[in-house]
Amino acid sequence: MAFDVRPVRNLEEFGAAFLAIGQYFGATTEEDRMQRWVDQLGLDRMHAALSDGAIVGGAAAFTFNMTVPGGDLPTAGISVVGVYPTHRRRGILRSLMRAQLDDVHERGEPMAALWASEEPIYGRFGYGLAGFCGEIALPHEYTAFAQTIEPTGTLRFLEPDEVLEAIPPVFERIRADWPGMFSRNRLWWERREIEDPEDRRDGAGPKRWIAYEQDGSIEGFAIYRHKPGWEHGSTVAELRVLEALGIGAEAVRDLWAFLLAIDWKATVKAWLLPPDHPLFLLLASPRRLRFRLGDSLWVRLVDVGAALSARRYSSDDSLVLDVTDDFCPWNAGLWKLEGGTAARTKDDPDLRLPVQSLGSAFLGGVQFAALARAGRVEEVREGALARADGLFRWDRLPWCPQIF
Ligand SMILES: CC(C)(COP(=O)(O)OP(=O)(O)OC[C@H]1O[C@@H](n2cnc3c(N)ncnc32)[C@H](O)[C@@H]1OP(=O)(O)O)[C@@H](O)C(=O)NCCC(=O)NCCS
Repeated sequence: MAFDVRPVRNLEEFGAAFLAIGQYFGATTEEDRMQRWVDQLGLDRMHAALSDGAIVGGAAAFTFNMTVPGGDLPTAGISVVGVYPTHRRRGILRSLMRAQLDDVHERGEPMAALWASEEPIYGRFGYGLAGFCGEIALPHEYTAFAQTIEPTGTLRFLEPDEVLEAIPPVFERIRADWPGMFSRNRLWWERREIEDPEDRRDGAGPKRWIAYEQDGSIEGFAIYRHKPGWEHGSTVAELRVLEALGIGAEAVRDLWAFLLAIDWKATVKAWLLPPDHPLFLLLASPRRLRFRLGDSLWVRLVDVGAALSARRYSSDDSLVLDVTDDFCPWNAGLWKLEGGTAARTKDDPDLRLPVQSLGSAFLGGVQFAALARAGRVEEVREGALARADGLFRWDRLPWCPQIF
């Protein structure tokens, strides 16, 4: 059966393409709901696959910037990917990925990134696992810190109508030097962060916003919900921490000290936390976090030369990479990284690797040595793995705070 792939043309087509993934999540496609998605994505960023004139697949991309080590890169935030169950395993996903990556390339976005609902899918299209995150479920009785700390800032509740002015500037400062974080525009803040409809609360109460101030300046914030509950006459309430971020170490420490000390809860839960979260070193009983690690960001370098030239490096070393890329062949071949810039070269390679592995290492979260141990990088010149890791190492592990 033949099919075409093209951007959707109107709201109705957007809804049909959205349903390609939406149906698996039990989502509905009322007009106002779809219009809100279109407001954020734009019609032109939703590709649809059509069979006999009917839409049977969809794949979309957010337009945002993602922090990379020492830089900020226009990035396609891939989302809403799916194929109708009536048309699966006929190459429709492959065609969608083809059209989408060509489009990303033409737009001049050097990188695409995604969270995968199913993680085996995207490697074949050049995405590499680039970051990790974890969830915690900490019992109330194990929330004590190992050392006594004196808070250095003050905390106050924010009303939802104060958030839009108060919090985005702090978030942007935090994002500026944290690889993997992406920009949130005003619409994103309004619709995804501040609006708090009951159907997005998963049975818990409304969002509580906390501002953390030092010397009159907001240096951090926390968002949490209470999920009350009783069993056998005692509380089984959860405190669900949605985000707790600060500019400096003191802000993060004080915010978590506050959150963990809130009364009348049985468990503190949080999701998508960085794998090197300071709680491991702050708590007296870090094992009680029951930290469960999983994959988070998958990164695809769409323009290898532009992407490599857009981040900074931890040494002045040079490196020649022999990159293979079957799906986006314009990336394939020899690249020399020197003085922070990547250019085509005829020099002999130091490392040979598929573009997936370069995507994994790009944000500094996965070492070349680890990739080599998994058979995903070949060390052509002796010592090149260590040199590459010295170059790409960054003082902060990549982390993405939110599924997009
Ligand atoms: C996953 C999904 C998008 C695949 O679409 P599809 O049109 O059936 O995929 P294609 O026929 O283009 O297959 C492309 C390749 O992916 C592989 N593949 C497809 N679905 C896969 C899965 N769930 N797990 C592992 N591999 C998968 C195919 O075997 C094929 O491999 P090949 O390149 O070696 O031939 C579709 O089944 C779907 O919508 N599933 C439910 C929603 C979902 O999981 N969406 C992804 C969100 S991250």
